[in-house]
Amino acid sequence: MTAQIIDGKAVAARMTAEIASDSAALQQATGIVPQLVAVLVGDDPASAVYVRNKQRACERAGLKSTLHRLPMETTEAQLLDLVMQLNSDSAVHGILVQLPLPKQSREQVSLDAVVPHKDVDCFHPHNVGLLVQGRPRFLPCTPAGCQRLLAEYKIETAGAHAVVLGRSEIVGKPMAMLLVQRGAVADATVTICHSRTRELASIVRQADILIAAVGQRRFVTADMVKPGAVVIDVGINRDGDQLVGDVDFEPVSQVASAITPVPGGVGPMTIATLLRNTLTAAQLSAGK
Ligand code: GUN
Repeated sequence: MTAQIIDGKAVAARMTAEIASDSAALQQATGIVPQLVAVLVGDDPASAVYVRNKQRACERAGLKSTLHRLPMETTEAQLLDLVMQLNSDSAVHGILVQLPLPKQSREQVSLDAVVPHKDVDCFHPHNVGLLVQGRPRFLPCTPAGCQRLLAEYKIETAGAHAVVLGRSEIVGKPMAMLLVQRGAVADATVTICHSRTRELASIVRQADILIAAVGQRRFVTADMVKPGAVVIDVGINRDGDQLVGDVDFEPVSQVASAITPVPGGVGPMTIATLLRNTLTAAQLSAGK
């Protein structure tokens, strides 16, 4: 079997066009131009690339994007001060504090400082709580991007066994939460595996849908994948000057029925969801 390639880049481009159209409609009706503000502390090269990609995507969707670059030695108090200013600026609809932060700033404290209705990463406990209860304000960017790919490729999730590899707050936990909910592109039986899971390979091998988010290059090998499974690879790892996922792509694509590539799979979908959340934040600010 050779797997169908799930083209995240193409789906994200369609989403971006939809967002551009909705954003233009909002602007025409209210004069509001949705604005995303990214805060980047320090000089982590990967973070700089991610933030630049997010800014470029904003431009493509007709959203305003602003970057605050702060030096590595910025204190937590200075960072919180900027977040507070952005919280109270009515022209700012979405705030994104790029992770990781330098060690003097506690990530939890800094993320919790973002007012919930501008928390377009969907990291604030208030937004996570709404998500868990099945009435989300914002969507968790990477998990919702994966879910949209499953929808676009008409992959049956109801009753399917979805195995989520990884229990991070950003991907693993919210991914499991989306798939287990009642409704479309959900209703799955979900297992979360992590570094302490016993017999991990044998559980992964039971997956009809496998979401790999462990952050270890080529962690998922072909012998861990059930023939015909759908494999969504969230990993972005460096291997020399190559970007590779958490899945050993070539051999696994001989076993799976569909698979996301890295790059060009989940990555663009994360950004497209961030844009959608920014537009949602602007619409909410306008009472729409
Ligand atoms: N760093 C890596 N992924 C993310 C993300 O989704 N949001 C933020 N704010 N920082 C990140």
